[in-house]
Amino acid sequence: MRPVQSESLPLEKNAPLSSTRARGRSSLEPVKVGVIGIGNMGQHHARVLSRLKDVHLVGLADVNVELGIETASKYKVHYFEDYTELLKQVDAVCVAVPTRLHHAVGMACLKAGVHVLIEKPIAASIAEAESLVNAAADFDCILQVGHIERFNPAFKELHNVLKTEDVLALEARRMSPYSKRANDVSVVLDLMIHDIDLILELAGAPVTKLTANGSRGDNSPYLDYVTATLGFANGVVATVTASKVTHRKIRTISAHCRNSLTEADFLNNKIAIHRQTTENCSTDYGQVLYRQDGLIEQVYTSNTEPLHAELEHFVHCVRGGDQPSVGGEQALKALRLASVIEQMALDGQAWKSQDELRLALGPMTMASALG
Ligand SMILES: NC(=O)c1ccc[n+]([C@@H]2O[C@H](COP(=O)([O-])OP(=O)(O)OC[C@H]3O[C@@H](n4cnc5c(N)ncnc54)[C@H](O)[C@@H]3O)[C@@H](O)[C@H]2O)c1
Repeated sequence: MRPVQSESLPLEKNAPLSSTRARGRSSLEPVKVGVIGIGNMGQHHARVLSRLKDVHLVGLADVNVELGIETASKYKVHYFEDYTELLKQVDAVCVAVPTRLHHAVGMACLKAGVHVLIEKPIAASIAEAESLVNAAADFDCILQVGHIERFNPAFKELHNVLKTEDVLALEARRMSPYSKRANDVSVVLDLMIHDIDLILELAGAPVTKLTANGSRGDNSPYLDYVTATLGFANGVVATVTASKVTHRKIRTISAHCRNSLTEADFLNNKIAIHRQTTENCSTDYGQVLYRQDGLIEQVYTSNTEPLHAELEHFVHCVRGGDQPSVGGEQALKALRLASVIEQMALDGQAWKSQDELRLALGPMTMASALG
């Protein structure tokens, strides 16, 4: 289909591309980027990309023509009803279409030699995710996955703090009131997938035990509330709960450590470290003036927008700087574990043994898949 243009911007002739594979690396020119799917999440990609240094936001693609033209006008960029036309004009794209379309759209981008940041979860099934990971390698393209919480300043600080702590247990809670968005997947793929990725990163050891339970709201075809308990080879225990039916938005991870309790609040970008010290403050002659029963340290966190940091990292990788910190392989690990959790919660199964888990988590051993 012919690209529909917003305003009267002249559409560049297909720029001469160095090759049909992996464009845009190591150039001093701004990286040419587009966004495919400009619904809830894609709108934010467009906003941040339009302001990012060394980036030229070329255009936006969406099957919703009205939304596409309106948003493209806002950022003074081209609108494409057919995203394959946008691919001819860019080095890289952010893909924010519904999850069930990630595979088809992602594959078309990679086959066109365009670097891809695809929203989480990487795909709707493990087979689709594997084929995206393989295609990125075959076409020598960057494949980053939108596990945005890795770029949340509160998570970054939590990760730093825990490097010097002896972690016993982790507790992740991600809860939202009912919403009409993202109801084409269960709460595990929509919300819990974020914390699965973060907990795997924090625990730093293979999963050896797992159980999960879930419930659903009225008439919901998917699970809306799921809680999973994971045991790791290094003795760490984690509980991960995600909900679409809670009357308050909550996004927290607590780390119960031998010498502290660290609480990270991703919504409010806050970290507090609690330590139970008991100390008497006394005069020289031994009279107790007061007793200190606990300490709370508030950790400084930066106010960088996580999406800004995520997209900066993507552009840096496209320029040939690095491999993404959350590439296809990491996202696939999270998806494998999410799929087992979802299945267990649906089946109401008891603890999975180490052997069962090894089978369920596929060809990668647990040590390599989850360690
Ligand atoms: N990282 C995060 O925190 C986060 C938050 C929300 C959503 N997401 C993810 O982003 C993705 C999109 O979710 P959303 O809530 O923005 O959905 P949405 O329904 O609001 O937006 C999807 C957009 O894609 C467009 N679209 C559909 N088919 C298309 C096609 N073939 N070509 C071009 N455009 C097409 C739709 O018209 C719509 O505008 C999902 O994978 C979701 O999991 C991630």
